[in-house]
Amino acid sequence: MNLVFLGPPGSGKGTQAARLSGKAGVLHLSTGDLLREAVKNGTELGQQAEGYMSRGELVPDDLIVGLIENKLTAGELDKGFILDGFPRTVPQAEALKTMFTKNDMGLDHAVLIAVGDEEIVRRLSGRWFCPTCQRTYSYPANQPKVEGICDDDGTKLQRRKDDEEDVVRNRLDVYKKQTQPIEDFYRNESLLVEIDGEDSPDNVFAAIEKAVG
Ligand code: AP5
Repeated sequence: MNLVFLGPPGSGKGTQAARLSGKAGVLHLSTGDLLREAVKNGTELGQQAEGYMSRGELVPDDLIVGLIENKLTAGELDKGFILDGFPRTVPQAEALKTMFTKNDMGLDHAVLIAVGDEEIVRRLSGRWFCPTCQRTYSYPANQPKVEGICDDDGTKLQRRKDDEEDVVRNRLDVYKKQTQPIEDFYRNESLLVEIDGEDSPDNVFAAIEKAVG
């Protein structure tokens, strides 16, 4: 199973990719998670990416393409994968296609999870995470037992800096201008499947499973 998950910020790519990769036993590779880890560890990549991320802008293509190319060269994608948050521009989609052609690999589907802007702002304003175990909570549906504290390890919950409403609105603009054109890229390759992401997480998962077989 070789998939890419597309969709606006907060559409549920991470939630669904984690669930499907667990069930199918394939790698879940989130470029957002890799970049946040790099920022946390103060690596060169993290230092280069931090400003773009905090403003809700995309990190330059060459940094991200290099990151994915290293994973592919190391054989990490050999047993199937879900790429979550990559590609995000047409040049990234083209670079991925070139990498796959060189390595005799291919994509099975590009799964687009569609959610409207106001639902996204609502979801991201209610997203909190535990910096220790990374568990995510979403208010009001999935709250911790004690306000602001992780149920699993007692750590104080945090919000992502890029989940502030003004940054979310910028991420949505960036999505429409720079990422939405790749929907046509994959439609033209007959790889795009579209899922209604405004349904419950269970129903969205069932729709994805049905679409990707
Ligand atoms: P990244 O981390 O990829 O952020 P994103 O795409 O904006 O996505 P999110 O992680 O915010 O949301 P998601 O779609 O995964 O939804 P989730 O499942 O968490 O990227 C961050 C930044 O890194 C970018 O802005 C950019 O700067 C940089 N970057 C990353 N990749 C890059 C690339 N390729 N090129 C350049 N720059 C790059 O769900 C969201 C919330 O909704 C959660 O609280 C969840 O519990 C809840 N939820 C999920 N599903 C449902 C549902 N069905 N109903 C109700 N609530 C739901």
